Amino acid sequence: MLRRLQIRPHLKSSSQIEAMRKANLVVAEVLQGLAAMARPGITTLELDQEAEKICRNRGAVPAFKGYHGYPASLCTSVNHVIVHGIPSKDEILKEGDLLSLDFGAVLDGWVGDSAITVEIGEVSEDAHRLSMVTREALDLAIEQVRPGKRLSDIGRAVQTHAEIAGYSVIRDFVGHGIGREMHEDPQVPNYVPEHGPDPRLETGMVIAIEPMISAGKPDVEILKDGWTAVTADGSLAAHYEHSVAVTDSNPAILSRL
Ligand code: MF3
Ligand code: CO
Repeated sequence: MLRRLQIRPHLKSSSQIEAMRKANLVVAEVLQGLAAMARPGITTLELDQEAEKICRNRGAVPAFKGYHGYPASLCTSVNHVIVHGIPSKDEILKEGDLLSLDFGAVLDGWVGDSAITVEIGEVSEDAHRLSMVTREALDLAIEQVRPGKRLSDIGRAVQTHAEIAGYSVIRDFVGHGIGREMHEDPQVPNYVPEHGPDPRLETGMVIAIEPMISAGKPDVEILKDGWTAVTADGSLAAHYEHSVAVTDSNPAILSRL
């Protein structure tokens, strides 16, 4: 989501969290299905159509379609596209592409949201490393999702891991609370903010953590379609996302199969 002004977290009961898990498991199944299909020669529109089909077959509704006018069910972000790439019949995946797949589903009024980065055929060593570092950054961030930790502990985990690897954290987009709405408070930056509130995590908070990392500079440009976010310097970007609940014990990764 785009960065904006901040309000308050919404807490969920354990039965609500289980309902959210069901929505997120639909998302996980969609992403698993798409990862198996994503190879050279397929178009991003075909992936979008398959995503919508799997989602509806599970009794869920795509969350992104129509959201602030977004025209598809899936976001397909190739190479220097960071997030919000719009699937197209004219976009044919080719060997070496690095593709972020971001999908959201609504089931029984609860929203699930998750993203993965997949390699199309054989990718460069640089692309592979960027993707692995971004995935590790998400795992390290999820480790912080415990009562008493602060929101900035999540951002610090991502930022430290990305910067030690020589990469930049994208700052124009952030993770978010999630529940009945796709975007709830709090915002979840992938860096340590210099000012502003830094709430403690509480049992019952559910957040979508979504590191977006560039191999070059962090500057973003939005294309004329009003959605596609690219690195201004054309460098590769990767993106992973999980919806995670704070519990009294370990983090509950709702969007993991
Ligand atoms: N995971 C993305 C986000 O949280 C997906 C939103 S795409 C949109 O911002 F089209 F729905 F906005
Ligand atoms: Co999200």
